[in-house]
Amino acid sequence: MRKPFVAGNWKMNTNSQTSVKLVERIASGSVEAASQSVIVAVCPPFVYLQVVAKALSSSNIAVGAQDMYFEPDGAFTGEISASMLKDVGCSYCLCGHSERRHVIGESDELINRKVTAAIGGGLLPILCVGELLEEREASKTNEVVTRHVKEGLAGLSAEKLEAVTIAYEPVWAIGTGLTATPDQAQEVHDFIRKLLGQMYDKKTAEEIRILYGGSVKPNNAAELMSQKDIDGVLVGGASLKADDFLAIIQAAV
Ligand code: 13P
Repeated sequence: MRKPFVAGNWKMNTNSQTSVKLVERIASGSVEAASQSVIVAVCPPFVYLQVVAKALSSSNIAVGAQDMYFEPDGAFTGEISASMLKDVGCSYCLCGHSERRHVIGESDELINRKVTAAIGGGLLPILCVGELLEEREASKTNEVVTRHVKEGLAGLSAEKLEAVTIAYEPVWAIGTGLTATPDQAQEVHDFIRKLLGQMYDKKTAEEIRILYGGSVKPNNAAELMSQKDIDGVLVGGASLKADDFLAIIQAAV
């Protein structure tokens, strides 16, 4: 049985005050039932990780980073390592978010190094995969997702995969208000799970969580998560509004 997982990706939003206020409201609003039966995480910008982790220290809401670098330390100006993230209270780290792939220009090889280093550093990576609109229109969704999954997880054993969550985020649905229909999302989630079954084994594929992301809102979260292979959601814009994020957590219960 895969426990549902709701994660909020704040992207480059909030400040030192609004970040703390937001999680205080989320922590006080997430009823006991929800916090027991759903894994909840928030991913603030690097500079607010520490204050957010402190504000959440007596809750069971986890903290994640939005990115990391694969080297443990050294002369890598501007970068942040897995051990630094652990040190400030992170348990999760997004790897290969579409904005990092398509705006910053990260390659599958770099993302694979990050996923590998995250696990090595004791973090739980959330590997983001998903196609562009033109790729979907050219019927290349499965091809793109296969590349993202295979190259993102290259070299990882089934045992290491226990630390990994996959997030399917079709790029055309991110921040656009266009959501994949539950059927469209389920089709890709099913495809990813079968792919993992081929790459590893059936048990491993059955156990891994696959989240959906892309314009998830309180009014579509429950239907998306009712799909067989959709184990939770990775929420952007709606995770910045406590009431919306709480409603989405409630939809996962
Ligand atoms: P939106 O929910 O704002 O579409 O963002 C999705 C996303 O990119 C989460 O990582």
